[in-house]
Amino acid sequence: MAAAPKRIEHGEPEERQIPRRHMLAWLSGVGVVGSLLTGVFSSLVFLKPRATYGQPNRFRIGRPEEFPPGARMAIDTKRVCIVREGDKVAAISTTCTHLGCIVAPSATGFQCPCHGSQFDVDGNVTGGPAPKALSWFQVTLTPSGELEVDKDNEIQTGTYLSV
Ligand code: FES
Repeated sequence: MAAAPKRIEHGEPEERQIPRRHMLAWLSGVGVVGSLLTGVFSSLVFLKPRATYGQPNRFRIGRPEEFPPGARMAIDTKRVCIVREGDKVAAISTTCTHLGCIVAPSATGFQCPCHGSQFDVDGNVTGGPAPKALSWFQVTLTPSGELEVDKDNEIQTGTYLSV
């Protein structure tokens, strides 16, 4: 007759104690490893910024020589028109003040293709639904001799940079 398994005070057979310890150790190990992996993954996620930023509002557009006197060059990706009058340079917004379409230089100034607003060469409204003039942005000359436009810095209409 086989002897009954020896019981300990909790009522479990003695031979089941070792597998339970192993199981608890294994579960603890899985918990620790899982915590470490979660921590590492979280840290890696935070290393890469999730925020997306629009285009910078301060950007370089090239050297003054690239804009010959009389030039009115629209840079649609930046939504500005670079105007050169003699030895003076300015940056005028090409964002229509009506609903934000991109205006295009025209023979008389600027023309909006969306609802027909018209602006003179300085960006003042001459027709259409646009409620106000196009903005002028500060232009500076960097130490390397490039022109830099700062769209965060609106300036008074007619303010040029001498180059
Ligand atoms: S968006 Fe330019 S006229 Fe409406």
